[in-house]
Amino acid sequence: MFWRGVMLDITDQKRAEAKLRRSLEILRQTMEQRRELVARLEEAQEEERRRIAADIHDDSIQVVSAADLRAQALARRLEDPELRAEAAELHDTLREAVERLRHLLFELRPPALDREGLAAALRQYLDQPWGGPALEAVLDVRLDGEPPPEARAILYRIAQEAITNARKHAEASRLEVRLLSSEDGVRLRVVDDGKGVESLDLANREPGHLGISAMIERAELAGGWCRVEGAPGVGTTVECWLPLGWAVSTHAEPRDA
Ligand SMILES: Nc1ncnc2c1ncn2[C@@H]1O[C@H](COP(=O)(O)OP(=O)(O)O)[C@@H](O)[C@H]1O
Ligand SMILES: [Mg+2]
Repeated sequence: MFWRGVMLDITDQKRAEAKLRRSLEILRQTMEQRRELVARLEEAQEEERRRIAADIHDDSIQVVSAADLRAQALARRLEDPELRAEAAELHDTLREAVERLRHLLFELRPPALDREGLAAALRQYLDQPWGGPALEAVLDVRLDGEPPPEARAILYRIAQEAITNARKHAEASRLEVRLLSSEDGVRLRVVDDGKGVESLDLANREPGHLGISAMIERAELAGGWCRVEGAPGVGTTVECWLPLGWAVSTHAEPRDA
């Protein structure tokens, strides 16, 4: 009787263990599927952005620039001062249109990211006028080589969000962006000396404010990590690390050295 009781106990325990293992396996598979899905979505989005950016660069900007040149040529032939003033206004409007298209290009996918690499793209992004007060921006790049395209795009997106946040929310006077090759990967740090993101902001992220979550998600998707820390009077630091040598849609484990 006693032995039977013990055996039943053991059988129950084994059954429970097997059930738990199965549940864990299903959970692991679900997480893996979700990760792959998000990675594909991210890839598709980058591709779409690249295509639209290329169209804007090769088509829209060229056409508007050509119109601007013609407006300037026309202005030179006008003698009536009133008409000349109007032509000058037309020239200003067209120049503004080109500037806005260029800005859009940088938000979408700067051609420099594919052509000249991450550092050049970030330099250009920082140099773009952004419509707010001037902010001293330092870019310090110490990379052993150019990160592969997927890592490059993710690092650019994270830096872009961190820079935009510093410009939009921090009221900072100085911004530092550092890229460093380290521990089989790339480390990115964006530091501002502004009012500091509050831990409350980080804990209770409001609906519709997805920037910080997206930075963390992107880094983790690539097998890395991203941390955002801030305090009043100290500023905000966004730090992330991405492993190199992974392929987004297959596996995200860091490559062995
Ligand atoms: N560099 C920063 N300095 C100060 N506050 C920040 C900074 N970055 C983010 N925050 C705060 O955290 C909130 C969430 O940021 P985020 O998730 O990027 O959403 P969003 O930029 O759309 O508001 C911001 O609304 C802001 O209050
Ligand atoms: Mg944001």
